[in-house]
Amino acid sequence: MSTEVTTVPAPLGGRTAVVTGAASGIGAATAEFLRGQGATVVGWDISGTAEAGPLDLTDAAAVKAAAAAVVAEHGSIHALVNCAGIITPNLPMETVDPSDFQKCFDVNVVGLVNASQAVYPALLEAKGAVVNVASQAALVCLPHQSAYSASKGAVAALTRSMAIDWAEAGIRVNAVCPGFTLTPMAVQQMTPELDAAVSRRVPMGRMFQPDEIASVISFLASDASSAVTGVVMAVDGGWTAGEPALPMGGAA
Ligand SMILES: NC(=O)c1ccc[n+]([C@@H]2O[C@H](COP(=O)([O-])OP(=O)(O)OC[C@H]3O[C@@H](n4cnc5c(N)ncnc54)[C@H](O)[C@@H]3O)[C@@H](O)[C@H]2O)c1
Repeated sequence: MSTEVTTVPAPLGGRTAVVTGAASGIGAATAEFLRGQGATVVGWDISGTAEAGPLDLTDAAAVKAAAAAVVAEHGSIHALVNCAGIITPNLPMETVDPSDFQKCFDVNVVGLVNASQAVYPALLEAKGAVVNVASQAALVCLPHQSAYSASKGAVAALTRSMAIDWAEAGIRVNAVCPGFTLTPMAVQQMTPELDAAVSRRVPMGRMFQPDEIASVISFLASDASSAVTGVVMAVDGGWTAGEPALPMGGAA
């Protein structure tokens, strides 16, 4: 009796993906996850590492040259994950220095636009996918983070704009909105009080590992989500679904 062996192809086998912010946190986890799914991954990050060449996303000309270099080396780009981002100091709105708004928008919005425009011709040819990393702050704002929240709201709106502008060309564009994820960016904000607040306020009662965001990004970058575009998806343990512990009276 012969045994039939079925091999399941890796979801991203033979694909090339560019991941921005790949030197750290969610971007690094995503680069590793996509490699695990069979993709060739090129990382772009302002802090260059062995895994992610140094590139400042706010420099449009340099980003365009980097995209051309990826196509020259790998032939095409099937997926772009726009993950690079910054946060600015926690301050009430009336005291935020306008330069903090500028910084947040330069990296979180204009950097994402630079990468998306630079990679667009390759995505067009490959009928590829873009995954933008927004934030729970795009859906429910964080206190004293007006510049960051506004920039992530812009990423959510931009995701929908890109999705409808590029749908006919066969390019899908979606976003994930992570909740608190244990990365160097989030660790700066951690206090025992925040930990307790997250336990109470997040229905799932916890923070997340970067891999738990990376796996959703991978789904949105792959053909497994071939009918999905323009979605801004919370990956937040229910934070934006509602308040889990309201002391409602009147039991049935
Ligand atoms: N960690 C969280 O709790 C959380 C929650 C929601 C959303 N996010 C978003 O996820 C993304 C990744 O965040 P993280 O927590 O992994 O942070 P991180 O600080 O660990 O990683 C961000 C990376 O972006 C890179 N970067 C910053 N400016 C850049 C520029 N001008 N050009 C190129 N690269 C640049 C940094 O060098 C860094 O490696 C960000 O967009 C962030 O806003 C994070």
